Amino acid sequence: MVSPSDHPEPSPELTLREIPGTYGVPFFGPIKDRYDYFYNQGKDEFFKTRIQKYNSTVFRTNMPPGPFISSNPRVVAVLDSKSFTILFDNSKVEKKNILDGTYMPKLNFFGGYRVCAFLDTDESNHHALKSFFLTFISNSHKKFIPYMRTGLTELFENLENEISDNGSADFNKHSDNMAFDFVFRLVTGTRPAETQLKSKGPATVNTWLALQLAPLGTSGLKFIPSFVDDIIHTVRLPFFVIKSGYKKLYNAVYNSASSLLDEAEKSGIAREEACHNLVFLAAFNAFGGMKVLFPSLIKWISTGGVTLHRRLAEEIRSVVKTEGDVTFSTLEKMPLTKSAVYEALRIEPPVPFQYATAREDIIINSHDSAFKIKKGETIFGYQPFATKDPKVFENPDEFVADRFVGEGEKLLKYVYWSNARETDNPSADNKQCPAKDLVVLCCRLMLVELFLRYDTFTAETGQVALGASVKITSLTKAT
Ligand code: HEM
Repeated sequence: MVSPSDHPEPSPELTLREIPGTYGVPFFGPIKDRYDYFYNQGKDEFFKTRIQKYNSTVFRTNMPPGPFISSNPRVVAVLDSKSFTILFDNSKVEKKNILDGTYMPKLNFFGGYRVCAFLDTDESNHHALKSFFLTFISNSHKKFIPYMRTGLTELFENLENEISDNGSADFNKHSDNMAFDFVFRLVTGTRPAETQLKSKGPATVNTWLALQLAPLGTSGLKFIPSFVDDIIHTVRLPFFVIKSGYKKLYNAVYNSASSLLDEAEKSGIAREEACHNLVFLAAFNAFGGMKVLFPSLIKWISTGGVTLHRRLAEEIRSVVKTEGDVTFSTLEKMPLTKSAVYEALRIEPPVPFQYATAREDIIINSHDSAFKIKKGETIFGYQPFATKDPKVFENPDEFVADRFVGEGEKLLKYVYWSNARETDNPSADNKQCPAKDLVVLCCRLMLVELFLRYDTFTAETGQVALGASVKITSLTKAT
């Protein structure tokens, strides 16, 4: 175990080591790695066995999809808490067109624009759009708690109804609906049901997301043979399937977000470009993130069982009783609740892959060696390995709800879910999620609402394409 202060200080004493690993022969090497990654080993095993084989958390490998979608699947993988941080150093790495890794979806998915998340910090458009988003988020802060609490009340009522009708409730479905409503309302001021989208928003966005992200996953259907499933890694899925759905989404945002679009125009961003960016922000960044994170949070809290639930309920109810209401400052007074949220973000970071390109020849350090990455090489980080690094976190694979309480707070700088350290702040000059604090707030509110209403709950969990699936099997009302 390193002490929390041991890294990321430079370690000049580390010896320079050749980066181990091989890309194999062209064409066949990437396909072999792809089969190992998706079918023969699975992703965690893929990385684990290579770390052991090379005795290194930094090595060369191909990353999917490879042929024929990405022309260059070669990466240097960084898989420990220390080397991973090179991905956040915008002076040394470029983040252009690399959000999804070694391929980029066709621009028609985004109205023909390279939207903010695909822009590098050196591009002037990135600065303009990110500033616009940061201002919008900061100006909306009074809406966060009321909108989220309304959504959560509906969510829990829906879950209760479904449990009483069917014996269990699909958390993911109701959570998606809540997330979409919340985000759409934040951006436009209107509920999606009041627009021509009606209740179709989440389904439209899910299809739009699946078409873009298909090369990074599998169908998950056991009865489909690997070579058939592998077709989705070989050819891009076409945009036309969702063209009219995207147009409806765009129009709904365009017609309802007038004042925000006026602001964008005042700051020099063309109205259409701003609107496609808002659609991406709402549908990909926000909805896509929440879609993965909320079920994951509930999954991990469910594993804590009655003991954790009692501790959370006690903390939450006593603070709310003393403070009289749920406010930003009330939420700050709940150390266990805060820590449990950070722990969920640590143990299962909702966006697990990060990529960047070296702007110049750079030296990076793992815990035990230094490595030279050449200008233009792609660097890839699989975040769960960085935030479950046994040299930084004790019992890294265990969900320890109070890990970040008291002295444990010092470990927050090793929590990277927002594409930077939890102790850093998003700005127009970096690539950190501009909604970092909002996301943490939403998770805290979810736990507060849950344990104000219920003493405990049970869930069955599984896996779907983008993360955890959660079926709530019981909710025990607060006594
Ligand atoms: C659970 C929810 C969320 C998660 C897990 C999440 C995660 C992330 C991550 C990891 C990135 C960096 C991606 C990369 O470059 O590799 C990012 C970027 C971004 N996120 Fe979030 N996010 C969430 C919610 C939101 C929300 C609610 C908004 C807006 C209201 C938002 C807006 C953005 C934008 C605009 C970027 C691009 C930043 C840039 O290019 O500099 N995100 N987010």
